[in-house]
Amino acid sequence: MRSPRAPSAALLAAAAAALALTGCQPAVDVSNAKVARRLPPAVETEIPLVTDEDERPIVPDAIKGKQVFDQNCAVCHGPTGEGNGPMAATLVAPDKDVLTALLGVFHIELHRPPLPSKPANFHSRDLENVISPAILYETVTGGRPHTAMPAFGPEASFGANKAQTLTNAERWDANVYEMMFRTTPAELSAARALYNQQCAVCHGVGGDGKGPRGREVAVRLWSWARSEGPGIFTDPNYMVQRNPSELTNAILDGHGMMPSYRGKLSTEQMNGLVDYIYTFFYRHPPIQ
Ligand code: HEC
Ligand code: HEC
Repeated sequence: MRSPRAPSAALLAAAAAALALTGCQPAVDVSNAKVARRLPPAVETEIPLVTDEDERPIVPDAIKGKQVFDQNCAVCHGPTGEGNGPMAATLVAPDKDVLTALLGVFHIELHRPPLPSKPANFHSRDLENVISPAILYETVTGGRPHTAMPAFGPEASFGANKAQTLTNAERWDANVYEMMFRTTPAELSAARALYNQQCAVCHGVGGDGKGPRGREVAVRLWSWARSEGPGIFTDPNYMVQRNPSELTNAILDGHGMMPSYRGKLSTEQMNGLVDYIYTFFYRHPPIQ
């Protein structure tokens, strides 16, 4: 049977003729032609990460987060997040892994000495720098397998303990409150002054890209025109996927219109700026 899509011989001949003709056309100078400046098409949006149970966007709240933290987390992590809560010294990892699960099928129980499990210290930058808010949330949701960090979401990951279930909003609130332990109020306030002086001209005092030069950036960058993506600090779904060392490198390296600040700021100033930038995506107590 002949495929209806096969081009006819006549069509092929016509195409060949057209090609031969264009070969003879004089070259057209297009260097002065007017091109309509259009922004590139929007990237397909994924399901937002920072949502309630019905996938409606929420804004995490560190003020409410303090309550959630004090009631659910301080017992292990300590009221100031140093990892020294009243239960910290006695914690052991759950005795559930692939081996115990397999042996359990045959009703064999291993008798192993319990391994101590130390709660995270939220002041430790070595630890926190490589962990994005989204990963913190994942940890609080599913727990951390083979450690005493329990799941506060509806289901524990394999090998993790389960604690009482908190809502998505409560877990996000506790998360952003936890992020505030890294910087003292004085450091945060110094970071705000530096940001307003160096960065707000483009990024805006509110981190929304609406600084005096924000419009200029917006015509060049589609993400700025839509107030989301790189350089827009009020976009929770973007910011929660960036860890502090990525943001630090972005500030050190620069990119496109974003200047490089390598060698111009101290480590303390960089840390402060990164923590301050995060505060744009969640509610928090007023900065002094
Ligand atoms: C029963 C004790 C316990 C409770 C309660 C607890 N944690 Fe943890 N948490 C741990 C331990 C232990 C670790 C360290 C896990 C490891 O070794 O990786 C940890 C680790 C974490 C981490 C990972 C930190 C990192 O930088 O990798 C986060 C985030 C966290 N906890 C948040 C919370 C929050 C928020 C709550 C309250 C809603 C909470 N935890 C309640 C014991 C606890
Ligand atoms: C001249 C305008 C301008 C100034 C001043 C400026 N930025 Fe930017 N910044 C940008 C632009 C544009 C982007 C987006 C770059 C890109 O990815 O194309 C950006 C991106 C960023 C990013 C996000 C990178 C990412 O990939 O997530 C961070 C963080 C950042 N800037 C921090 C700062 C800080 C902190 C300062 C002040 C010390 C500052 N910027 C000053 C224009 C500026």
